[in-house]
Amino acid sequence: MAREFTSVGVVGLGTMGAGIVEVFARNGVDVVAVEISDGALERGRANLTGSTDRAVARGKLAEADRDALLSRVDFRVGLDALHSVDLVIEAVPEHLDLKQRLFAELDRICRPEAILATNTSSLSVTEISVATGRPNQVIGIHFFNPAPVMKLVEVVRTVVTSAEVVADVEALCARLGKVDVTINDRAGFIANALLFGYLNHAVAMHEAHYATREDIDAAMKLGCGLPMGPLALMDLIGLDTAYEILDTMYRRGGRDRRHAPAPLLKQMVTAGLLGRKSGRGFYTYERPGSPKVVPDERTPATAGPALADGARAIAKVGVVGSGTMATGIIEVFAKAGYEVVSVTRGAEKSAKVCEAVKTSLNKGVVRGKLSEPDRDAALGRVTWSATLDHLADVDLVVEAVIEELSVKKALFASLDEICKPGVVLATTTSSLPVIDVAMATHRPADVVGLHFFNPAPVMPLVEIVRTIRTSEETTATARAVCAALGKTGVVCADRSGFVVNALLFPYLNDAVKMLEASYSTADDIDHAMKLGCGYPMGPFELLDVVGLDVSLAIQRELYLELREPGFAPAPLLEHLVTAGYLGRKTGRGFRDHTRR
Ligand SMILES: NC(=O)c1ccc[n+]([C@@H]2O[C@H](COP(=O)([O-])OP(=O)(O)OC[C@H]3O[C@@H](n4cnc5c(N)ncnc54)[C@H](O)[C@@H]3O)[C@@H](O)[C@H]2O)c1
Repeated sequence: MAREFTSVGVVGLGTMGAGIVEVFARNGVDVVAVEISDGALERGRANLTGSTDRAVARGKLAEADRDALLSRVDFRVGLDALHSVDLVIEAVPEHLDLKQRLFAELDRICRPEAILATNTSSLSVTEISVATGRPNQVIGIHFFNPAPVMKLVEVVRTVVTSAEVVADVEALCARLGKVDVTINDRAGFIANALLFGYLNHAVAMHEAHYATREDIDAAMKLGCGLPMGPLALMDLIGLDTAYEILDTMYRRGGRDRRHAPAPLLKQMVTAGLLGRKSGRGFYTYERPGSPKVVPDERTPATAGPALADGARAIAKVGVVGSGTMATGIIEVFAKAGYEVVSVTRGAEKSAKVCEAVKTSLNKGVVRGKLSEPDRDAALGRVTWSATLDHLADVDLVVEAVIEELSVKKALFASLDEICKPGVVLATTTSSLPVIDVAMATHRPADVVGLHFFNPAPVMPLVEIVRTIRTSEETTATARAVCAALGKTGVVCADRSGFVVNALLFPYLNDAVKMLEASYSTADDIDHAMKLGCGYPMGPFELLDVVGLDVSLAIQRELYLELREPGFAPAPLLEHLVTAGYLGRKTGRGFRDHTRR
């Protein structure tokens, strides 16, 4: 029989604690909510009522249920109020000495059978537990932010946590409507170990002026379907908390440089820019604690004339290539009203591409997304050719041929001879340096990367890659074209992986390393990222879809260019590729797809 938890204590009512109180009280558990001072208690109460009022306003919680929820919470200053609860969970700041002192106190105050839990993100639960006389009743219960929304709980057992305590806490999680994964005590557990390297990398990109905060966030949301961009997520987590988590992970997790907090973080914390909770972090919020972003001096001018400033007029577009990307890009331009010249290496290939574009447009008609006249008009705008000479009078060329530098360079040299002056020459490369391609021409200022995502007609993102030779005018033109296509263009510098791949693939590679180290299973790791962080797919699901060979190639490029030891491809990934387990396309990758 699992233990009954009728009343629990929550210590610290900040970002996480207030959310945890809400989770318990919503599920009928009485809560003693403790803070350190009257002022902090009032802020904690405001955190809770703010969140429940928003839930009522959104129709997610009935007023009567909110009132019942709030009536279950007993707000108190000081730990003595916790003398008779069945379980205490603390969510005080991420400092080991603070948590150890707190646990020693709780051990003295709480009933001998009470379970003592920590919501720490990165500290050692074992080290916290030995501050008490009951380490076998100490456990990690790691909720995700915002606690009332995120389904996942990581249950962290130490080498001495008793099996009954683990089982009781697992049953409690189920009662709270959460999905738990139970794991051993390791820095960052599953989700944060995979998340924080990525978040820190995004901060470093921003710090290096590699791309703007809006563009970094838009890239990850639109390119990977994440619920939030990394910088907005840092603001939600709290920059002080994020700093402490990174610092602890750096020290506990083998001094991986990727966890050494970006210098900008320290500066922002020192300046009191803590994110949402202080009203300002990477973004500015309506007021402290508010989720609403308001414009500030760094907010870019949106659409309208400002965007088109300096852009060249584009009416006729050449698309070179006959693969998946070229086909999608032809469709995107034709549907947006551009005249398109498709150039392939032969009539047969042109016929195939033409067929593929037709099929895709027809699908749009069947799905009711495109009218028949619009389909016919789009097709009517495309001319099919097998010679580059037909690109003499286009305004923009988008190259989407094979990912080989020598081939792309030769093509750009030809384009340089054929195209009229003032044309924007774009490459869709996803891994080669755009500057190499640009320098194959005599007009590097007119060369830019336009990195479309697959499938191009569906994916809303385009990375606009600016080399050190790309002119402002060319970048402005690329932006205006993306806007006219209905895509979000994010501008970034010419570095391996641009924004999305540079942030995404090291995380996937880290997941493989975690699996390789037998810390957890592929299923639990996938669960953790989906339910704890709201990712649309877990890392192993995504790797199988993208292809392990493609993922390995991208990871190798990143490693070669940045020489970051943490980016070294996971040996398990290399072995799977060698064995021909490439993912869905071969029927087997991390999972066997032939049996489903
Ligand atoms: N922020 C996140 O996204 C997140 C997610 C999961 C876990 N965590 C973990 O949760 C814990 C709390 O983080 P947070 O972001 O909520 O911090 P926070 O700074 O928002 O809140 C901490 C609260 O603890 C209170 N406090 C400090 N000392 C206290 C004491 N001695 N007794 C009682 N209350 C005290 C403070 O007044 C404050 O209200 C940390 O261990 C953190 O790693 C955070």
